[in-house]
Amino acid sequence: MEAESAQVITFANIKGGVGKTTAVTNVAYMLSHEFNKRVLVVDSDDQGNATKALGVRDLLDSDEKTLWHALSNKLGYRKVAVESPFERISLIPSSKELKGAQLAFGSSARGIKMFKRLLRGVDKDFDYVLIDTKPQINVLLQAALAASDGYVVPSFPESDSYDGFVDLLAECEEIFEEENEKLKCFGVLFTNVKKSPAHQAYIEFIAKHLKKAKIPYFRTFIRHSNSIATGSLHNCPAVALSTSRNIAEDYKSISKLLIQRAGLDSQVRPRFDVLGLNPSMKSEDQRVVVEDVFREVQF
Ligand SMILES: Nc1ncnc2c1ncn2[C@@H]1O[C@H](COP(=O)(O)OP(=O)(O)OP(=O)(O)O)[C@@H](O)[C@H]1O
Ligand SMILES: [Mg+2]
Repeated sequence: MEAESAQVITFANIKGGVGKTTAVTNVAYMLSHEFNKRVLVVDSDDQGNATKALGVRDLLDSDEKTLWHALSNKLGYRKVAVESPFERISLIPSSKELKGAQLAFGSSARGIKMFKRLLRGVDKDFDYVLIDTKPQINVLLQAALAASDGYVVPSFPESDSYDGFVDLLAECEEIFEEENEKLKCFGVLFTNVKKSPAHQAYIEFIAKHLKKAKIPYFRTFIRHSNSIATGSLHNCPAVALSTSRNIAEDYKSISKLLIQRAGLDSQVRPRFDVLGLNPSMKSEDQRVVVEDVFREVQF
């Protein structure tokens, strides 16, 4: 079954460099090119990597076409979205000013509603909105989750990719309870997976714990591929290159699974208690438990 209204999906992980931006831009390309969907990418990270990866940075001729401009002037998406060079993909570009978002909006009640206002009526123009976020819990992440139908947690199959994992899930669950009752966990997405026995065993081990805690994950992994770097060099998603067969296959199945998950009504809430965790625990204590669970296997 397919969702009828536009689906808003936030890609988040507090750990940096785990494939969030790569996932957002490649899923965007696959949704538009393979599934004929109209996609809006929102670059909510002041590093602007998604803006660059979609080849938009050099096209920008106006300081006003940015997420910051929209949020600080309470504008809707139509005022700031720009077309990317890729068919059916538009983008709300990032800019350096986003660094000041926490200070500007963090303490205000409207902070958390920012993306809801930005995306009001988005169904008219888009089928999917993919939000790329900075590896940090801040008002932009909270506002993105408050406006989302679901979130995806990209992760490398390495133990330190789980630093902050519980903090992130706890934040998402808090937004679900207090701000957004439709927010679903679409799953942990393993990216940059090598054929090595270490990676395979690590995933098997972690998957067992995720299952126990009812935290969904994608059984299709994104394999390690040199074409990701080639894509970055050309400011385009790797899957758009003719040389990237494996990665295109992987992102195509993930995009298909996302379409399916977005169409499901069922809600599975992560069970922290099964992992021996409690979202109200101090984060240092959470980390100790998570380290025990996720670092049990060392290679
Ligand atoms: N499947 C893959 N194969 C090879 N390299 C990959 C793969 N996925 C991601 N990478 C590389 O890993 C690095 C981090 O990826 P990416 O920028 O997508 O992570 P991120 O989580 O968005 O980082 P940040 O937290 O800084 O925003 C990049 O150099 C990217 O090229
Ligand atoms: Mg990124």
